[in-house]
Amino acid sequence: NTKKDFAGKKVLITLGPTQEAIDPVRFISNHSSGKMGIAIADAFKSRGAEVFLVSGPISIPFRSADFHLTKVKSAHEMYETARKIHATMDICVFAAAVADYAPAVIASQKIKKNESEMSILLKKNVDIALELGKLKQTRQLHIGFALETENEETHAKAKLDKKNFDLIVLNSAKDEGAGFQHDTNRVKIIHADGRFADSGLISKSEVANLILEEIKKVPVWI
Ligand code: PMT
Repeated sequence: NTKKDFAGKKVLITLGPTQEAIDPVRFISNHSSGKMGIAIADAFKSRGAEVFLVSGPISIPFRSADFHLTKVKSAHEMYETARKIHATMDICVFAAAVADYAPAVIASQKIKKNESEMSILLKKNVDIALELGKLKQTRQLHIGFALETENEETHAKAKLDKKNFDLIVLNSAKDEGAGFQHDTNRVKIIHADGRFADSGLISKSEVANLILEEIKKVPVWI
């Protein structure tokens, strides 16, 4: 792709999982590999944008020299980093799989095995996309993701409205070859006005370029 149709644009992308510490050796996390986020980053970079990555712990290879990269672990760190640069961005893509809850306290020492049952009290994490959505300026575009297992479209549309997204990219954790870990994905890209595009099962790189095409159809795009 040689067209530089995103030249001059600053793009923030959150990606990967977050890790929420339980004690010095354990954490709560999820299966996000960061592949979808990196594919979007590569698409923006090759089409001329300046890309700022806020990445949870990922181990896939990528051209880190192409991006401004901040590595984070917890949802709280991801939020603090994204918040600091948000105001100067043109486009924000929330591709991270952020843990919704974190242990209420992080044990300072490794928790010892003792009783046959144990429980960990969790508290709600900050919702990064929701909070930054409240700060969205009219010239800014926010693109969210929705990873669902049931009533996919209803849930995705509700998230779009609640988090002030311009576009939401719906993927199903139940679809073969889609979602976490795969090199492919199948997405439905839904606009705030209800228009949508279905990708079919294609590579994450092709999905990324399709998302960029849909971004260009959003009214605030100049
Ligand atoms: O990384 P891969 O292995 O390639 O997998 C890609 C992916 C499945 C992780 C990606 O395509 C994806 O769907 N990412 C979002 C997963 C998710 O957390 O969805 P959600 O429906 O729980 O969240 C909705 C939106 O709010 C997302 O844009 C999410 O980034 C954002 N969010 C959620 C919770 C939170 N505390 N802060 C957030 O910003």
